[in-house]
Amino acid sequence: MKRLFSKKGSPARDDPAAAPASGVSRRDFLKGLGTTALSAAAMSAGSVAKELEQTSTERVYGPGPVPVILSINGEKQIFQLEPRVTLLEALRTQAGLTGAKEPCDRAACGACTVLLDDVPVYACSLLAIEAQGAEITTIEGIAKDGRLTKLQQAFVQKDGLQCGYCTPGMVMTLTALLRRNPHPTEAEVRKACSGNLCRCGSYPRIFAAALDTGGAPTVSKLEVITLHDHAVA
Ligand code: FES
Ligand code: FES
Repeated sequence: MKRLFSKKGSPARDDPAAAPASGVSRRDFLKGLGTTALSAAAMSAGSVAKELEQTSTERVYGPGPVPVILSINGEKQIFQLEPRVTLLEALRTQAGLTGAKEPCDRAACGACTVLLDDVPVYACSLLAIEAQGAEITTIEGIAKDGRLTKLQQAFVQKDGLQCGYCTPGMVMTLTALLRRNPHPTEAEVRKACSGNLCRCGSYPRIFAAALDTGGAPTVSKLEVITLHDHAVA
């Protein structure tokens, strides 16, 4: 007598008579599964090939150093940088420009702010290789012939700093604001500075310096106190 079941109760291996009631044998089922898997693999291989075809036109850089040309403060410079290097790292360690600071390195404080085609950006959150082709302006590049800009002078006059760590970033952010809007309102100044933190709490004097540069009436001591109240609210 043919054995239909193994001792454990499962259909006996390779026994044609062990076909389930549906009429599909275990072997047929496995064969079918193989075909389906092959079709799925073929399909996904097709889409991978398509994607590869699209990306193969893009050049791959790194991981080793590659030439990176940056235009910094009006001067083109060539560096050998790994593509993972941030603009801030390149400025500070390669170009010797340490004005932009690195307190957080995660787009939280704004002390690393530089201008990219007059737009303030966090240099810690941009790769140096991505900054190619743009004009980069750092705090070192705004004073001409040793003369501070009007805004920088206003920072001095209004005492717009204490430890000074946030100052380069603040100045760059406000320089960008004043270039696109020479007469900002207090609300516009506040909004522009919203991405820059000052742990010393110099906001009222920083705002006063920017308003003064924009030609707003000189802010009195009392108004500075009012600004401060707004700042800490
Ligand atoms: S160091 Fe870039 S935002 Fe703080
Ligand atoms: S002056 Fe110290 S952090 Fe702003």
